[in-house]
Amino acid sequence: MSAPITTKVQSKELNGLSLIAAHSHISGLGLDENLRPKESAQGMVGQLKARRAAGVILKMVEAGKIAGRAVLVAGPPSTGKTAIAMGLSQSLGEDVPFTAIAGSEVFSLELSKTESLTQAFRKSIGIKIKEETEIIEGEVVEIQIDRSITGGHKQGKLTIKTTDMETIYELGNKMIEGLTKEKVLAGDVISIDKASGKITKLGKSFTRARDYDAMGPETKFVQCPEGELQKRKEVVHTVSLHEIDVINSRQQGFLALFSGDTGEIRSEVRDQINTKVAEWKEEGKAEIVPGVLFIDEVHMLDIECFSFINRALEDDFSPIVMMATNRGISRTRGTDYKSPHGMPADLLDRSIIIHTAPYNADEIRTILSIRATEEEVELTADAIALLTKIGQETSLRYASNLISVAQQIALKRRSNAVDLEDIKRGYMLFFDSDRSVQYLEENASQFIDDNGDVTFGYGATVEANSDKMEVEA
Ligand SMILES: Nc1ncnc2c1ncn2[C@@H]1O[C@H](COP(=O)(O)OP(=O)(O)OP(=O)(O)O)[C@@H](O)[C@H]1O
Ligand SMILES: [Mg+2]
Repeated sequence: MSAPITTKVQSKELNGLSLIAAHSHISGLGLDENLRPKESAQGMVGQLKARRAAGVILKMVEAGKIAGRAVLVAGPPSTGKTAIAMGLSQSLGEDVPFTAIAGSEVFSLELSKTESLTQAFRKSIGIKIKEETEIIEGEVVEIQIDRSITGGHKQGKLTIKTTDMETIYELGNKMIEGLTKEKVLAGDVISIDKASGKITKLGKSFTRARDYDAMGPETKFVQCPEGELQKRKEVVHTVSLHEIDVINSRQQGFLALFSGDTGEIRSEVRDQINTKVAEWKEEGKAEIVPGVLFIDEVHMLDIECFSFINRALEDDFSPIVMMATNRGISRTRGTDYKSPHGMPADLLDRSIIIHTAPYNADEIRTILSIRATEEEVELTADAIALLTKIGQETSLRYASNLISVAQQIALKRRSNAVDLEDIKRGYMLFFDSDRSVQYLEENASQFIDDNGDVTFGYGATVEANSDKMEVEA
């Protein structure tokens, strides 16, 4: 590929949107400045050891020097594993990439397993690129726009100055639109990126301060720039390796980023980009920012994926890989053997492991109250007490799901607050998993079993693979 490698992207992909609702009350890990977890902060409650450990990972990522580590968060269902990963992602700086995928997402018809894992890995590596661009920076003296009678085509002139010089620029349609959108007026100090035409308003010029005594206090005043109107300026932007791959792999470039339809990316393209980025790094033009790749439900991956991850962690460009699982000793997909957390021993051996533990009553109560506030549901004291008890006996997630169910029940009796009765009725209407299992055991014959057999109504049995229907009356 002889064409230069482009790194400009206009959009960021939206990742992991589906995970947000259940964790929308979480805005960070809730740590103090010494990374010690507070009992309840930023929507995070309890689980102190795991949160503290996540804080250490956060420091590692922020230091930006450590890449290619694997972290496993293991614990029983609904003990906050995904929640901690979400908290971590929100504590990361804006430039540090965080990618969240679920193990099952890797199995798609469009991309091979290794391709989708490669993409996920490369989405999690940021490249901070320093570039020189040419800008025009000065104070606007006058904007003059002539509209044609039909209103279609516009033309205009922009007079702009520094303390040392003044120039008039011809304006085309696009620039006029930009100036109008930014509401640029005479007296504004603006900066125009020559390559992209992007206009940035820096503030009002001090020399015109007297004209603006009617302005609000939020008006920002700046000095009229000195020297030349056209300057070279260093700008820094961060893109992910994956974004660079996509832009350079096809003609339609970043359009594919919008649609998400990136297809398989040829390995030669990636090799070239790797070489180029390494070169930029040598020359001081680029900096590599290893981010975090979070693979939730990691036990859904199979042995091929695990071995891919093993190798990818040794790559020059590798993020910190955080995985979560609720499996104990179980079979690794694609093999016949059982191993801890359903993960092969070699990957497990490389990982540092964080454990999450079940919550106590106080923690459950606090989390449920936070969830209620988040869902804008008012719970009476009795209601929250019962909900806590349900949370202890079933699961936090089930109790948390009952909040919105009970609210609907309360609304039906025209009450804004959810009371004890509403929770009880919600509990009767919707089964938790234990009661569902019990129901199954009691009524096993009415469900289709592993052999495909089922009993309809009062004892009419249909056997799979037989064309006669026996009726035992
Ligand atoms: N420590 C916590 N503080 C606040 N909210 C929490 C905490 N732990 C869990 N939650 C909330 O409880 C619910 C269940 O937790 P989460 O989904 O993180 O469990 P999980 O460990 O990932 O479970 P699974 O193994 O089933 O995936 C979520 O809505 C989550 O936001
Ligand atoms: Mg989870």
